[in-house]
Amino acid sequence: MANRPIAVFDSGEGGLTVLRRAWALYPGEHFIYGADSDHFPYGSRSLDEVRDLFLRFLDFFIKQEVKAVVIACNTATAAALDIARAKSPVPVIGVVQPGAEKAVHTSASGRIGILSTYATYKSEVYRKAIEHYSHKAQVVQWPCPVLVTMAESGQTETEQARMAVRECLNTVFRHQVDTVVLGCTHFPHMERIFYEEVGNRAVIVDPGYETAKHLQDVLGPLRVSSGGSLTFYTTGSTTEFNRISSVLWPHMDIQAQKLIW
Ligand code: SIN
Repeated sequence: MANRPIAVFDSGEGGLTVLRRAWALYPGEHFIYGADSDHFPYGSRSLDEVRDLFLRFLDFFIKQEVKAVVIACNTATAAALDIARAKSPVPVIGVVQPGAEKAVHTSASGRIGILSTYATYKSEVYRKAIEHYSHKAQVVQWPCPVLVTMAESGQTETEQARMAVRECLNTVFRHQVDTVVLGCTHFPHMERIFYEEVGNRAVIVDPGYETAKHLQDVLGPLRVSSGGSLTFYTTGSTTEFNRISSVLWPHMDIQAQKLIW
């Protein structure tokens, strides 16, 4: 069991932010990354549709005999975490709960801003998760789909990206939040801009980072010495996936394999 891979899933390149954190913490583990690039973006689809799309990946991961599945996509977590847990013989971890827990522990005022896709926003999954940890918290949510498309096309450092991040942040800062949750795994690809634009007005919570740390709680001690591996699959164009991932994760030579169901 210990040698089995850990699956990490996203609609596209956003989950690379989670994989990068997990790989930094546990370089002795084997990771399989699955991207449903052919159906990106999930954030503008219905939750039912997203659930069905994700469940095909869950079957694929189970056939690969993984020891855990990380849904490194907030929208897919909102849509499919419960059903995936019911169907899977191995632990399934979503990104929302670790992020919500961290936000509650981080916020002094209890006013927490959530930036996400439209589907995550509509699902209220963060509000519910935060209210599970604190009855006093006040949650302000805002959908920022434009940031998802920008990150997925590798536009993470442009002036246009900065303006879009600023506009999204302004919507939650109007409500005096002291904590901002990056509630879409694509957003940490723009973390430099986020940190510069937030400044000392709030603390940023990256649920992907919290999720990577949480892996140990679920799986027990993971290997922190080197010797692991990374394998990538996409339902979309492998050329495009490799091209964008080399922008988003420089110094990594990612060569994805094509997934055809
Ligand atoms: C998307 O596919 O729209 C973004 C995925 C996410 O919610 O993290």
